[in-house]
Amino acid sequence: MTSVTFKDILDSVYNRVDDLDVITPCLGEVEPRLELAEVQSCVAVGAGYGRLDLAFLEHCMPNVGEFTAVEPDPNCAAELRARLAAALPNVRSVVSEETVQSWPGVDRSVDAVLLVHFLYYLNSGERLALYRRLRDSVLRSGGFLIILIHPHHTSGAPSAYCRVIQLLKSSEESDELVTDREVRVAMSVVGFELCYERTFNSYLSVADMDDTFLSLFLRPGGSWSLESVRQAADRVFGNSKKVRHDSWLGIFRKP
Ligand SMILES: C[S@@+](CC[C@H](N)C(=O)[O-])C[C@H]1O[C@@H](n2cnc3c(N)ncnc32)[C@H](O)[C@@H]1O
Repeated sequence: MTSVTFKDILDSVYNRVDDLDVITPCLGEVEPRLELAEVQSCVAVGAGYGRLDLAFLEHCMPNVGEFTAVEPDPNCAAELRARLAAALPNVRSVVSEETVQSWPGVDRSVDAVLLVHFLYYLNSGERLALYRRLRDSVLRSGGFLIILIHPHHTSGAPSAYCRVIQLLKSSEESDELVTDREVRVAMSVVGFELCYERTFNSYLSVADMDDTFLSLFLRPGGSWSLESVRQAADRVFGNSKKVRHDSWLGIFRKP
């Protein structure tokens, strides 16, 4: 399994989720409500190859002229460059192939920042530090911080994904299990105003789990093997064909 790339894992997961179909129709409603048409510059952190990030650009921010993506994975960064050239040829775009920690930031503050399924890669202290950095040196006053996460609970109970991680970590608590509540609290501590939120019911297919999909649950330096992932996934998913895998969208504004 050493030849599986991070992009292979993303492809495998994206083939199993219906979130794009559920979220995209709502994005056109958000744009006029928040006047996102005024957004001309945008940064996306952890943009992957832009599957959802490009949907936000196209449907929520139709007038973006400058786009910066921060994405350390070389395969994702290469595909993102190709997708941007094909889908948004008139947008001046830069893909910075590095982590947000090493990214030097922007010369001029931007109108919007996207954090789409990225926050899991930071612990809670690092998340707070990122919000502060975005407030202090990346976003202009009145700019939007757009956050999409799997909130790791479904109607208050831990999601199936969350339970797999908890079994592997043998712990109830895990930094990567972000909740919408945590984001709302941190945002108000940092001084952002919530201007829109919505939960989307979506599903993850767990039929015929292959090793590429299961590798989603491996962690660099993690102490568990693919075999223990397989056992944890079997225990949690059982004979289910699909499990709830909701998404939560929060849009915040810097005063
Ligand atoms: C789950 S993917 C989401 C991709 C994309 N936003 C989407 O929703 O389709 C998260 C992305 O964050 C990137 N990433 C991980 N750690 C990062 C870091 N420290 N700084 C910036 N990006 C990072 C990964 O390479 C990955 O492409």
